Amino acid sequence: MSVATTGGDATAADEPPRRCGTTDVHVRLLEQDPGYRGARAALAQARSAVTARAAEEVVRIPVVVHVVSASPEDVTDEQVASQLAVLNADFRAANADVSSVPDVFAPLVADARVEFVLASTAPDGTPSSGTTRTTTDVAAFSTDDAVKSAATGGADPWPPAEHLNLWVCPLGGGLLGYAQFPGGPAATDGVVVNLTAFGTTGTASAPFDLGRTATHEVGHYLDLFHLWGELQASCEDTDEVDDTPNQRGPHRGRPEFPQVSCDNGPAGDLFMDYMDYVDDAAMVMFTAGQVTRMRAALAGVRAPLAAAGSRS
Ligand code: ARG
Ligand code: ZN
Ligand code: CA
Repeated sequence: MSVATTGGDATAADEPPRRCGTTDVHVRLLEQDPGYRGARAALAQARSAVTARAAEEVVRIPVVVHVVSASPEDVTDEQVASQLAVLNADFRAANADVSSVPDVFAPLVADARVEFVLASTAPDGTPSSGTTRTTTDVAAFSTDDAVKSAATGGADPWPPAEHLNLWVCPLGGGLLGYAQFPGGPAATDGVVVNLTAFGTTGTASAPFDLGRTATHEVGHYLDLFHLWGELQASCEDTDEVDDTPNQRGPHRGRPEFPQVSCDNGPAGDLFMDYMDYVDDAAMVMFTAGQVTRMRAALAGVRAPLAAAGSRS
């Protein structure tokens, strides 16, 4: 175990107290879904083929929020709007706290040029607020995707090719959220966020009440890995992004700058990036390399999503 300063935690291979469920899903799909490995490989090829032009436009993503809980009315339209506002700031590098990035990393900060809008039409063609509310008797969901189906106490997705499905529900085990990478099964495509970590008001609770769990999970949904890599926390694994320093493992809390690992001194780890595990107030940026990777997903496997957004 490495030595952590205030708030930092580079416990790497040690079992972290809380980890991102996205990794669980990734490993499960690699083991169980015969198509997933191939789809991920195809994605890797497509990544190198994105044209500069496709990478310039602002892409709009239609979102449907499915609130699934014992009292789904607790998550008001205002709370949903607060989450959309955070996504729209973070994916345009328009968040005020981006100014906290240390000077040495400031040149890496990038605008993903992605905007999020609540879907205005339900799948049956009727006008919609882009939010569904489902009362469930499931006390806590897990990464098993039960929340994504009405048959298991959750809510069915809206057509995943054309909507970002975002489920909000109680999650057990200290999990803040999880996502499915591009290339997985359509029926479970989307992101899940804990009730306690959704938006900036209502059921959101400090220190995860600045809406950054959704920013992190949508990063995964657009193909971003954790900074240390997806299969193991070590200096050998990588996030496949060149401009993020190689980093051993996650940080938690509000680390002090710098946090050096994997010979990446003096600047050290990019723990203030959305793809670390720090508190909401401490994660404030995506890099240019991460943006390129997200844009590749939007120009490739997620192109129908961008097309749906440009029509809406
Ligand atoms: N899936 C990650 C978890 O459950 C999300 C971490 C997001 N971090 C945050 N500060 N919101 O731990
Ligand atoms: Zn994660
Ligand atoms: Ca990297």
